[in-house]
Amino acid sequence: MKNKIDEILRQVDEFKTDSLEQVEELRIKYLSKKGIIPSLFSDFKDVAAEERKEIGMALNELKNKAQDRINLLKEELQSLSAGQDKKIPDLSMPADFTSLGSRHPLSIVRRQIIDIFARIGFTVSEGPEIENDWHNFSALNFPEEHPARDMQDTFFVDDSASGTEKIALRTHTSSVQVRVMENSKPPIRSVSPGRVFRNEAISARAHCIFHQVEGLYVDHNVSFADLKQTLYYFVQEFFGKDTKVRFRPSYFPFTEPSAEMDVTCMICGGAGCKICKNSGWVEILGCGMVDPQVLENCHIDSNEYTGFAFGMGIERITMLKFQIDDLRLFFENDMRFLKQFEAAH
Ligand code: PHE
Repeated sequence: MKNKIDEILRQVDEFKTDSLEQVEELRIKYLSKKGIIPSLFSDFKDVAAEERKEIGMALNELKNKAQDRINLLKEELQSLSAGQDKKIPDLSMPADFTSLGSRHPLSIVRRQIIDIFARIGFTVSEGPEIENDWHNFSALNFPEEHPARDMQDTFFVDDSASGTEKIALRTHTSSVQVRVMENSKPPIRSVSPGRVFRNEAISARAHCIFHQVEGLYVDHNVSFADLKQTLYYFVQEFFGKDTKVRFRPSYFPFTEPSAEMDVTCMICGGAGCKICKNSGWVEILGCGMVDPQVLENCHIDSNEYTGFAFGMGIERITMLKFQIDDLRLFFENDMRFLKQFEAAH
């Protein structure tokens, strides 16, 4: 009996068909009432008592296996014939939907800024994010005890390996401008976009990582009027022709005179709202005439040349342009936020 079961098990394993009719024939031959397997079950009554357990299990296993195998063959043949029916695809079906990516709002605005300055002859320069003290501070006239050098504002990098030199994450891209002045001769017209780092608490208005575009123009007879006109041109191109500007005196160690520039609030048009704190104006950048000492620090003759510089935060003007009220949204990669900029470029 055991040998017989094994023999049929082998046959079941070798079941092969290429039509549903043949599958049905196999089912009848092996599993129907008078088929091979049920007839083995009727022989079971003659099996000796001590063998019953083993033979019984083997028989059940055989029956299940045969049933599974037949079901499998049936399914395979059925799905194959379904596939054949679909051989000619429906050419009028719409294509699969693929969603397009879009630029990050900060990239959109960075590109727009670069583009506007490129139209009036500014090239792009970039520099390292990890800077030494000279390029981030000393060359820019920051006195030794200036609070911006303090641990509160600057992320210092462990400099034990680099000897006495202080290494930090750059706090502004003015450091790139120092490098440009050191490495090229006037006339210089350059904008430096990039990531900067300051040790600030993260809130809706501030982040410890943000982006800047700073600009530099050094040539014969560059004046404050050139500075004003250049920035006025930028603002009109970027925010629109109706935008007005105003300059307020300010202080930076590396420019003299220095100013901060405000634009008329694009949310309320100057009438006063929450964004501009009812003043009608919002500050967007710092600027000034490059301090002659800074030119000298970078081996540019300050008797022959003058220059202006400016710097703005990309997050800030992106928030103003797109009316975004929380700066943290730029860093969270929430698709619902990012998708809103698909149309901008
Ligand atoms: N570097 C200044 C800042 O990060 C901005 C600035 C650049 C101001 C150039 C004046 C001239 O705040």
